[in-house]
Amino acid sequence: RRPLRVALLGCGVVGSQVARMLTEHAADLAARAGAPLELVGVAVRDVSVPREGVDPALLTTDAGPLVDAADIVVEVMGGDEPARGLMLRAIAGGAAVVTANKALLASDGPALYAAADEAGVDIYFEAAVAGAIPIVRPVRESLAGDYVRKVLGIVNGTTNYVLDQMSTTGLGLDEAVAQAQQLGYAEADPTADVGGHDAAAKAAILASLAFHTRVTLDDVACEGITSITADDVAWAAKTGHVVKLLAIAERTPDGVSARVHPALVPADHPLAGVRGAFNAVFVEAEAAGDLMFYGQGAGGAPTASAVLGDVVSAARHRVLGGKGPEESTYAALPVVPASSA
Ligand code: NDP
Ligand code: HSE
Repeated sequence: RRPLRVALLGCGVVGSQVARMLTEHAADLAARAGAPLELVGVAVRDVSVPREGVDPALLTTDAGPLVDAADIVVEVMGGDEPARGLMLRAIAGGAAVVTANKALLASDGPALYAAADEAGVDIYFEAAVAGAIPIVRPVRESLAGDYVRKVLGIVNGTTNYVLDQMSTTGLGLDEAVAQAQQLGYAEADPTADVGGHDAAAKAAILASLAFHTRVTLDDVACEGITSITADDVAWAAKTGHVVKLLAIAERTPDGVSARVHPALVPADHPLAGVRGAFNAVFVEAEAAGDLMFYGQGAGGAPTASAVLGDVVSAARHRVLGGKGPEESTYAALPVVPASSA
């Protein structure tokens, strides 16, 4: 089969890990995808910066032609423009789009999805909500036959890391945010994290999927953690609580309601045990009951895992019409006989 051409837009915290995994796991990914995945170019702002493991000849500042040449476009540059224009260009050219850009999806999702519908291509965005945690596909697909009542959880790794550091080390908000930036958890502008807007974008995406309606960023009431002090966190601990930034979306008699705000969580609640940049999402559904999704919510490699899963899905859709991997894939690793395990 001919290779599928993958264009990577962005080679920062997430993009560099996507490039690494595409290269290191090329043979496995080809087997799972149904065709080799060929990285045909990487769009960045500054081509003079060396990118570990990326052939410098692949780097370009001219993303347009790269998008035109691709079967699958992976958008991990973030921000509004040029990301939006490049995604629309990819869609118009018939390429599948994989994106981690929750801010753009939460504000301009309807226009992007409409363009994709018209062109008959898909937009994949598992990485846009809660990093490595598979939550988009379960809510959109696995629960499509159920009746979701409520989605609640921690969906921003930076603020969870910051609150955790404030509580365990007594660090101030600004120092803890600086650490989260160094660790690659924070947005390019971390006020999106501490102001609650990143969590609100994810709440809008999850609410849209869970309740089969269009919820945008403007529909989400939003309060971040900027006014939380180390003293607040210490006082909470004394009263048997932990401060967490929660995102909540639920059905109400008046319609879907979504909000993000700090909350006092009892220390023995499972959400209180979510540490560092981990995330956790609870889903309450009529037939399924309560479900919990947990894992790394931010960072390069965890997010790249979700991106690559989408790339494989997009490739399978192109090559195999959406079927699972072919039988030949299963011959790759030997299986230890049960008798000797
Ligand atoms: P970074 O800032 O680390 O990387 C952004 C990359 O995009 C850089 O390589 C940058 O180029 C490139 N870029 C930015 N603007 C342009 C432009 N105008 N033209 C060409 N290239 C451009 O961001 P992250 O990797 O952290 O995040 C990327 C996306 O993934 C964002 O949408 C973010 O919200 C999302 N995301 C991030 C997660 C995380 O944990 N970091 C988790 C989940 C989602 P250069 O290197 O030259 O500056
Ligand atoms: N800045 C985001 C966070 C990245 O901290 O959760 C993951 O979406």
